Amino acid sequence: MTNQPSQVESEQEAQNESGRRTPDGDRILIFDTTLRDGEQSPGATLNVEEKLIVARQLARLGVDIIEAGFPFASPGDFEAVQRIAETVGIEGGPVICGLARATRQDIKAAADAIRPAARGRIHTFLATSDIHLKYKLKKTRSEVMAIAAEMVAYAKSFTADVEFSPEDAGRSEPEFLYAVLERVIAAGATTVNIPDTVGYMTPGEFGDLIRGIKENVPNIDRAVISVHGHNDLGLAVANFLEAVKNGARQLECTINGIGERAGNAALEELVMAMHVRRQYFNPFIGRPADSEAPLTNIDTRQIYKTSRLVSNLTSMLVQPNKAIVGSNAFAHESGIHQDGILKNRLTYEIMDAQSIGLTDNQLVLGKLSGRNAFRSRLKELGFELSEQDLNKAFVRFKDLADKKKEITERDLEAIVQDETQAQYGLGYQLERVQVSCGDRACPTATITLRTPDGRELTDAAVGTGPVDAVYRAINRLVEIPNRLIEFSVQSVTAGIDAMGEVTIRIQHEDRIYSGHAANTDIIVASAQAYLNALNRLFSASNNPAIHPQGFQETAVQAVVSV
Ligand code: KIV
Ligand code: ZN
Repeated sequence: MTNQPSQVESEQEAQNESGRRTPDGDRILIFDTTLRDGEQSPGATLNVEEKLIVARQLARLGVDIIEAGFPFASPGDFEAVQRIAETVGIEGGPVICGLARATRQDIKAAADAIRPAARGRIHTFLATSDIHLKYKLKKTRSEVMAIAAEMVAYAKSFTADVEFSPEDAGRSEPEFLYAVLERVIAAGATTVNIPDTVGYMTPGEFGDLIRGIKENVPNIDRAVISVHGHNDLGLAVANFLEAVKNGARQLECTINGIGERAGNAALEELVMAMHVRRQYFNPFIGRPADSEAPLTNIDTRQIYKTSRLVSNLTSMLVQPNKAIVGSNAFAHESGIHQDGILKNRLTYEIMDAQSIGLTDNQLVLGKLSGRNAFRSRLKELGFELSEQDLNKAFVRFKDLADKKKEITERDLEAIVQDETQAQYGLGYQLERVQVSCGDRACPTATITLRTPDGRELTDAAVGTGPVDAVYRAINRLVEIPNRLIEFSVQSVTAGIDAMGEVTIRIQHEDRIYSGHAANTDIIVASAQAYLNALNRLFSASNNPAIHPQGFQETAVQAVVSV
């Protein structure tokens, strides 16, 4: 990869600049649901501070709407949406949206949580497929139609910006779907979102569904058509692009495609598809094919960084061959490809790595760098830390600089994100890890932890290997039964002195919790990652949250009378 700005890149810069000035009119709105649907992925739960960090980065990325959470789920979810509304939903920032089932209590909670935002949206939903009506809602079609309209009108009493989703639209009977959409638009919905909840549709069918809605819902011109879809058949992005061609103007997606089951449509894939193939998509949104105006407001150079942030904080690893952000996406291994790339990069490259912000991971700081240099470098990388957090991160940086000659952007990211996760709630803190092992030794670990109420505890254990010994020693101290279901180590950068990143998943009852940590010593990283996962488990048991699409006695039954 070269450091010279290519023609592709200079064009990119110009486009991003003008993209910021493009009025909303004819472009595609990006609705990011990483913090709501993405966070519904098993083990991806984030705390309030982590959600704020992601939300700030989403704002830098340029998303139009942030679905910040499901406020009725728990006091923690409510607080996260409210703080994002206060701090990220400022004038000129993205719209902040809260999800609500079609019930008064959910809608009221969403309205209260989004209130501090300069522009707030309530997104309410109710299933419309016969299968959901019969088995989940136990309601008739006319009851569902009435509840949907009544709840949209109720949401409208709090904010002008109301979105309605007929859940499982992809499997709903089209005529009934059209009728529901007409009613909710008449009741005040300004966006109607069409979810392929179970990822069942194929691109042609999804495009037809959107065209059908455009042609058969008489008042559709009063609302933006949005799409939402899951990737069960690996078709979510293809379905969305077909939807755009047929009239969809808002795309609901997540960073790295995280989300329920196989995930949601991936933001980076949608944005880059419309960016690289702009000339193909332009006519479908009424522009001349050669129009240079960007199709979305996304600053594509923030994509890679956002992907890394979300992956580290949610502990959802990105597969190497993942489009756009996978580690192999821009790596040209084979001799034939390299030869072609050297002669002319267009032979095998359709986009420039720098267009997604994938830099050469420059060396940023050294052993002698002081606090101010550290602070300003972090600021340039987009991390604005409080004085206290900065102090902690600086200690980590100095420690790392003693062990590792070159500190790169990626190392700094790992330190800051690691510190954020280690501070999870008021959980257990790792004080000391000591291990002895080797081919003739019995692996033994001694661990010292600080408990949430400030006591220091030490215990030791033997295991089949050093990590096993560490986990057994931690278990003796923490005593929360769980099963380790995934453990992986990756290096942050190349080189023998690189930091190792450990990602783990543990299961407790029917829920999964994950943890992530980075250190030059992978045994220490393993201990910290395990403790991070245990702290998430600990915190979730103290703050149980409800799932918006769960089968529990639905609040719709209990609250709404028609
Ligand atoms: O997948 C889905 O249907 C949803 C709705 C709540 C929009 O996530
Ligand atoms: Zn969904």
